[in-house]
Amino acid sequence: MKQTEKYRRLFENVKIGNVTLKNRIGMPPMGTGQDGVNGEMTDNHIAYFGARAKGGCGLIVIEGQAVTNKTDPWMFGMTIAGTLAQAKTWQGVYEMCHAYGAKVCQQLICGLGRNAFVFDDQTTPPVSASAVPSHYRPDVICRPLEIEEIRDIVKRYAVSAYYAVSVGADMLEIHAHSGYLIDQFMSPVWNKRTDQYGGSFENRMRFITEIYYAMRQAVGPNVPILVRMAADHDFEGGRTFEETVEIAKYLESIGIDALDIDMGCYEKHKWIVPAIYSGDGCMAYASGIIKKAVGIPVLNAGSFTPETALEAVEKGQADVVLLGRAQIADPDWAAKLMEGREDDIRPCLLCNKYCAGNIGNGIPIRCSVNAQAAREREYAITKTENPKKVVVIGGGPGGMEAARVAALKGHEVTLYEKADSLGGQLNFAGDPSFKGRIRAFNAWQQRQIEKSTVKVVLNREITAESKELEEADQIIAALGAEPLVPKIPGIDGANVVEVTAAHRDHSLYKGERIVICGGGMSGVDCGLELAMAGKDVTIVEMVDALAKKELYQNKVRLFELLDEYHVKQMVNTKVLRITEEGVEVENENGISVLPADTIISAFGMKSETKTVQEILARYPQTKVVGDCGMVGQIGNAVRDGYFAGWSVE
Ligand SMILES: Cc1cc2nc3c(=O)[nH]c(=O)nc-3n(C[C@H](O)[C@H](O)[C@H](O)COP(=O)(O)O)c2cc1C
Repeated sequence: MKQTEKYRRLFENVKIGNVTLKNRIGMPPMGTGQDGVNGEMTDNHIAYFGARAKGGCGLIVIEGQAVTNKTDPWMFGMTIAGTLAQAKTWQGVYEMCHAYGAKVCQQLICGLGRNAFVFDDQTTPPVSASAVPSHYRPDVICRPLEIEEIRDIVKRYAVSAYYAVSVGADMLEIHAHSGYLIDQFMSPVWNKRTDQYGGSFENRMRFITEIYYAMRQAVGPNVPILVRMAADHDFEGGRTFEETVEIAKYLESIGIDALDIDMGCYEKHKWIVPAIYSGDGCMAYASGIIKKAVGIPVLNAGSFTPETALEAVEKGQADVVLLGRAQIADPDWAAKLMEGREDDIRPCLLCNKYCAGNIGNGIPIRCSVNAQAAREREYAITKTENPKKVVVIGGGPGGMEAARVAALKGHEVTLYEKADSLGGQLNFAGDPSFKGRIRAFNAWQQRQIEKSTVKVVLNREITAESKELEEADQIIAALGAEPLVPKIPGIDGANVVEVTAAHRDHSLYKGERIVICGGGMSGVDCGLELAMAGKDVTIVEMVDALAKKELYQNKVRLFELLDEYHVKQMVNTKVLRITEEGVEVENENGISVLPADTIISAFGMKSETKTVQEILARYPQTKVVGDCGMVGQIGNAVRDGYFAGWSVE
């Protein structure tokens, strides 16, 4: 079956209110952190959203724009929230999206409430519906909004909606999800008010109802207004599916045109930007439950792939599938699918490192696999007029990216790899069953190399003396890293397997009792994979936590899984030596022996510095990429690779 036929249902027209979308593929609201100092959108937004519209997406929900700067006064870039000055800057973005046939929905937000960060020098607590503890600092009690403040927010929604529509928005979305301020009014777990905004269902719905009516009055009957909310908060005391069904029916009855359904809240952070451990299409089932209860269209996001997006539509779980990080990773996601080029879609790793991770740090988004993301103009690839001979050493993710990009620029590229296949560390990092995105990205990179003009030479180790370097105008060294094996007594015993070797050859695991020495990501992933296969796994880590450097939002589901599969975690524990019986460890309880059939050494990686230094000494123009410069994550290597290839002039 041709891909276009296979995915035909994703390319059907769909109506939201009076507005027809050209297909069922949308982009959910995602803050890009690119706002100007006054909270305005910039030319970066035009290029960023324009690229996704050009890439075939039918509906773009523009990142949440604040209707007021009073609820989160501490937040950078909110000084002109909800004003004409801000709205004027939306115009260019909407216009560009329309130029490519996408419809635009403007998400409007009135604040984080108790979800806000609390800074040490902050003099006032966050606001909320009631005097409930701040999420991040439970010792700080939120200040309940006064009636006058509520009225002001309602007014600001109306004004912002009016401005958004005047400058071209096709639809509007009320941000009521994730336990943010509106949700804090809707949910009894946070709404303890005794006035007309608290208590009964009707009272808890009053805030969002007033917002909706005010917006409706401001924009008239023909502009669809959507609500984004969680189907289930997924924590003790939070809202359940049952009550969300009631809310959904209520919102439909007052005139809301569509619902954008997801899951969770900050107490269950795993749903907000789901990590790889939550699986693909992970919130579609939740959307399906709400969709059954209402007649209006339902939108849903959550780690979709082409297959799972199609499944959500075919199973009647969603009318519009929203692909967020997938379209940060590949702005042409929809067009490629429509043209039958599914294999060319660059897969998102769901690593969250440069998108959600950057937003968490207050800086603009970037992407691990797409260095052009949010820098569409600056890092566009243009053909060179001066082709160079480029030699790339190392066929891991950084080397492949450097080679791909340099070749796209028109350079003559040869890629040398000492192993018998490309992929480098991706070949073992993608081994665990739950790391399908890494396998998909590895396959994508290799396919792009195959399709390119890059000449690949396998089984060829390059050193500073290699004659292959002599003719090169540009050398790109992407030699990777080697396992770090500390000098622990017994580490070279027959019962010890190094983690990357273990991933390459599963027959190296013997017996049922496995002790993993090293609780970084590779040790933890390996431990989880083995525990899923029924092994008795203990992970030993010297510092005070496993996966210490991993993002919080990625760890939530990971640690749930470690518990579900009974992985024993020993932190603040030092490996003293390895014997035939197992691993001798020391911690605050003293010295003990962990009996083991196989011990996995997962102490991390060290850069391949010697060869790199020798190459640099002889060829100072060499660009160093990825782990051989500094050990990092896949995104570090890929981004380094992009810039190295792109900057060859
Ligand atoms: C960088 C980033 C910023 C986000 N900002 C918002 C936002 O402004 N409003 C919102 O409702 N959701 C926001 N989200 C959540 C996304 O809309 C979406 O629900 C989530 O990324 C899951 O979809 P995906 O798996 O397709 O990326 C953000 C997510 C990311 C990654």
